[in-house]
Amino acid sequence: MAADYGNGAPAESAYQRVRERLAQRRHHWLVTGVAGFIGSNLLETLLELGQRVTGLDNFLTGHRHNLEQVRQTVGPRAWERFCLIEGDIRDLEQCRQACAGVDYVLHQAALGSVPRSIVDPLLCNEINIGGFLNMLVAARDAGVARLVYAASSASYGDDATLPKVESRSGRPLSPYALSKTVNELYADVFARCYGGEAIGLRYFNVFGPRQDPQGAYAAVIPLWIAAMIHDRRLVINGDGESSRDFCFVGNVVQANLLAALSEHAAAANQVYNVAAGGRTSLNELYLLLHGLLLERFPHLLDYRPDYADFRAGDVRHSQADIGKAVSLLGYAPTHDVARGLKQAIRWYVGNLAPPR
Ligand SMILES: NC(=O)c1ccc[n+]([C@@H]2O[C@H](COP(=O)([O-])OP(=O)(O)OC[C@H]3O[C@@H](n4cnc5c(N)ncnc54)[C@H](O)[C@@H]3O)[C@@H](O)[C@H]2O)c1
Repeated sequence: MAADYGNGAPAESAYQRVRERLAQRRHHWLVTGVAGFIGSNLLETLLELGQRVTGLDNFLTGHRHNLEQVRQTVGPRAWERFCLIEGDIRDLEQCRQACAGVDYVLHQAALGSVPRSIVDPLLCNEINIGGFLNMLVAARDAGVARLVYAASSASYGDDATLPKVESRSGRPLSPYALSKTVNELYADVFARCYGGEAIGLRYFNVFGPRQDPQGAYAAVIPLWIAAMIHDRRLVINGDGESSRDFCFVGNVVQANLLAALSEHAAAANQVYNVAAGGRTSLNELYLLLHGLLLERFPHLLDYRPDYADFRAGDVRHSQADIGKAVSLLGYAPTHDVARGLKQAIRWYVGNLAPPR
């Protein structure tokens, strides 16, 4: 399914309608992982739409400065509608406390890294499976209307078919991929055994403002931008022809709100690909970023990447078929990779560049 990035296309109106509905009616949302990259972007949009938000985070990989940026963006009055619980999804009582009185849960908290899960499978299991189960139990017992959770394209595993369609996947290639697949199975079993509604969103390589450039497990886009801005070594794993369906975080926020509020009878208790629906090789990504940064950073004129071995657990190519989300949720991504990078680069330059 080819994505349409034009403005005013008919499919885009589903998101517009949801935003208008929200502007008229205040709900209470729980965003887990609220101090993280995606969670803080969800928080920002929900507060801007007049919603009340509880956030749950243990700051394992999230940051207080992400929340501070949201506070500055939305202003003090909107910020009053936000309540932070510093807690851990591995603790059922804290999950129950966070779910109290909540209409919708957007569950983002997880150990979100393939290599980190290979280094520490026990921690991955505790958070991504044990913590997820706690959230299902807490949301069920609190009578939450719908739980939308972050699934992953990693669940496609070793199946090489392109584009990726929700009904077909292979064997997981990492503890992380396994944990995200187990989430989907658990959500399905809960719907059968207890009723209740859950929707899984299989994100594909998300990027955008507040994605962490620091640490050993940083994602490729912030890692490379930081390396280029600071004139450090940039390493491409493999030959650079591996490809991904890079997805701007604004598209992910859209998919979450659509999934939470969809009234389509067939939409609940499903999983959906959330991506831009395109494919970009690492070499192409490098050239895009280099082009965007070159005009501001002349030292990049002679800059070249290095190449190293392929990374364990990585899939070779990834591209989503987004047709299911388009037809059942009314999902219409507004940003392809180039448009998303152009928008995100402003944040990276503003937040990572040394003062001149
Ligand atoms: N970023 C992507 O490209 C991508 C792709 C596929 C799926 N996902 C999923 O999306 C979700 C959000 O990812 P992100 O990129 O924003 O990562 P992130 O690391 O920025 O955010 C995760 C947040 O969860 C919090 N957290 C971790 N363990 C917790 C625990 N035990 N209790 C409470 N909070 C905890 C962290 O502190 C952090 O704030 C994750 O579930 C991830 O697996 C992300």
